[in-house]
Amino acid sequence: MKADTPRALLLENVHPDADGALQALGPIAVNRLAGSPERALLEREIKSADVLGIRSRTQVDAGLLDAANQLQAVGCFCIGTNQVDLTAAAQRGVPVFNAPFANTRSVAELTMASIVMLMRRIPEKMFSIADGGWLKTADGANEVRKKKLGIVGYGNIGAQLSVLASAFGMHVHFFDIEPKLAHGNARAMDSLEALLAECDVVTLHVPSTPRTKNLITRKRIAAMKPGAYLINQARGDLVDVDALADALRSGHLAGAAVDVFPVEPKSKDEAFSSPLQGCPNVILTPHIGGSTAEAQQAIGLDAATKLAKYLFEGATSFAVNFPQVEPGPIEAGQARIVVPHENRPGFLKRLNDLADRGGLNVAAQYLKTEGDLGYAVTDLEGPLPDGFIEHVGALDGAIRARLIAG
Ligand code: NAI
Repeated sequence: MKADTPRALLLENVHPDADGALQALGPIAVNRLAGSPERALLEREIKSADVLGIRSRTQVDAGLLDAANQLQAVGCFCIGTNQVDLTAAAQRGVPVFNAPFANTRSVAELTMASIVMLMRRIPEKMFSIADGGWLKTADGANEVRKKKLGIVGYGNIGAQLSVLASAFGMHVHFFDIEPKLAHGNARAMDSLEALLAECDVVTLHVPSTPRTKNLITRKRIAAMKPGAYLINQARGDLVDVDALADALRSGHLAGAAVDVFPVEPKSKDEAFSSPLQGCPNVILTPHIGGSTAEAQQAIGLDAATKLAKYLFEGATSFAVNFPQVEPGPIEAGQARIVVPHENRPGFLKRLNDLADRGGLNVAAQYLKTEGDLGYAVTDLEGPLPDGFIEHVGALDGAIRARLIAG
């Protein structure tokens, strides 16, 4: 590797396939540290990193970003980005990427499996047989075929589940606040109330928002069909769990599968407690809906690909804190400069005047702004004058400037 080869610092045992994806567009030296290193070590190692890859444990705050004097981008090899101070990163011209949809299939499969297990009343048979019981009975056990499934939130997971459930012969209904194209014969419902009144199994796949907090209230549980099933593998604050436990114990609902809870243990060492423990016919799982080897691999590939595209092409598509630009590969013979800048009048003019004075032709230019931040990508023809990129970085309003060689 040459001395100026960009360096990636990958923490927290990011999936090994990330290395290949990072190196797909050009050479990157990958340095891996196991786990989430303690702060002093991290501050030391991050000084020479051009990109940082983390999962959910490493906190990236303004102080760490200031210690990272050549950091170009952060990749969260996970779904959430709460562990990163996104505003501080944007202010320093550092885009942050994640892999929000890499575990869609894993959740949809778990939900489909839960529907089958609940409708066969498998949980109570498993609990019984573990204690020496033998609940050999067809009572209350059903096929899922021809039953009505109600999907609340027809986004990535909801739509994927719709396809799986249709293949099982279920009649799929869904409710979403946005207009959605129905897959197969799925039927859009006009309201959540209509869906609850109609369906044998109701499953939630909405995000946690002020509008979805406590979406499934005691009243709405009471409005579900007697003997129906409820599944929440989305977010813990969507359901009134006390009301759900009451409905399971009274027999109004025939079962539930819950993977997410209002309060979850922070580690394996903390005990879990919920009113749903001990309820009949429940599948309780420790927030593992998206936790599969395939999802980890997909996350590794997705986040690493986004980092590589930023490093070698300046693409910011899918960044969570940055204006999004997708300039494509650099044309032969051209040089690309990428400039995060303050979103104030006149920046492009100053940039293009500088190129003009340097005898450079602007072959292509891409600009997006969002809030206080602008992001400009410029492809230039002609030999770059000495110190050109430093002059761009010193322009009024420039946050930083980077040259990507063609
Ligand atoms: P998505 O953003 O693709 O889809 C969410 C859908 O819900 C959108 O179509 C949106 O319009 C709809 N929606 C929002 N508010 C609504 C409301 N009040 N009523 C009806 N529809 C509403 O999200 P995705 O990727 O499908 O994820 C769904 C949920 O699954 C999220 O809460 C996510 O956090 C959770 N999840 C859970 C995992 C686990 O480990 N258990 C893993 C991955 C995701």
